[in-house]
Amino acid sequence: MNDMPRKPLIAGNWKMNGSVAMAEALVDAIVEAGPFAAADVLVMPPFPYIDRLRSRVSSAGLLIGGQDLSPHESGAYTGEVSGAMLVDVGAGYVLVGHSERRQYHGESDDVVAAKFEAAAAAGLKPVLCVGESREQREAGQTEAVVSAQVDAVLSRCGIAAFGDAVVAYEPVWAIGTGLVATPEQAQQVHAFIRARLARHDATIAGRIQILYGGSMKPQNASDLLACEDIDGGLIGGASLKADEFVAIIMASIMTSGTASAKQSDAAPG
Ligand code: 13P
Repeated sequence: MNDMPRKPLIAGNWKMNGSVAMAEALVDAIVEAGPFAAADVLVMPPFPYIDRLRSRVSSAGLLIGGQDLSPHESGAYTGEVSGAMLVDVGAGYVLVGHSERRQYHGESDDVVAAKFEAAAAAGLKPVLCVGESREQREAGQTEAVVSAQVDAVLSRCGIAAFGDAVVAYEPVWAIGTGLVATPEQAQQVHAFIRARLARHDATIAGRIQILYGGSMKPQNASDLLACEDIDGGLIGGASLKADEFVAIIMASIMTSGTASAKQSDAAPG
């Protein structure tokens, strides 16, 4: 344990949106509003735009990442993109296990764990997405679902792999729906995830950034980000509008200054 505060991370998952012109204009507008020394700011555009944006992003101190990767290193996997390719075009992060990949592409916990492992092996920081569906929440299964999703990665990759990773809690029922978890609901799951990791290594659990995702907007960001175990946001819709994304970055900076409780200590749960 130690008492270093966790730096906020605000990540924009653009999903399958944009064009070259839109991507460049969006990044230019974010850069113009910066620099944001007190927050990590990450953009995750569709694959074809990563290389195009790398110089804009790196010269402004922003971070860039992919939305998915293949679990394989290379070879006959038509349509897939490897971790090494992402690194080659300047990415430092990659989402793994986003609920849209789990839902529409049938990614199981085992596939997600293999992707996490491939990302780490390539030198990327995996952003592991976890979260329950509405039915699962209503059935009281939130903690069981989230722990199974985290445990699949723990058992394949080990706790040390979380030393250079991010976790994003994204309740499926809040993604793109305008429904947002209350700060209490989100905080409870974030604390649960941190405690789960702390069973294996309290230092790693205390340092890891755990992001909330699901209809985060400027209007609700401060209340969520002020919670002790919410270290940032994984933003979908609002990351496509520079003014909204920047307002969320500013909210993370304001709240991280006030939340003295956001210390990197974690008790095993
Ligand atoms: P929305 O912010 O559009 O709800 O999307 C959240 C998300 O899925 C980010 O990965």
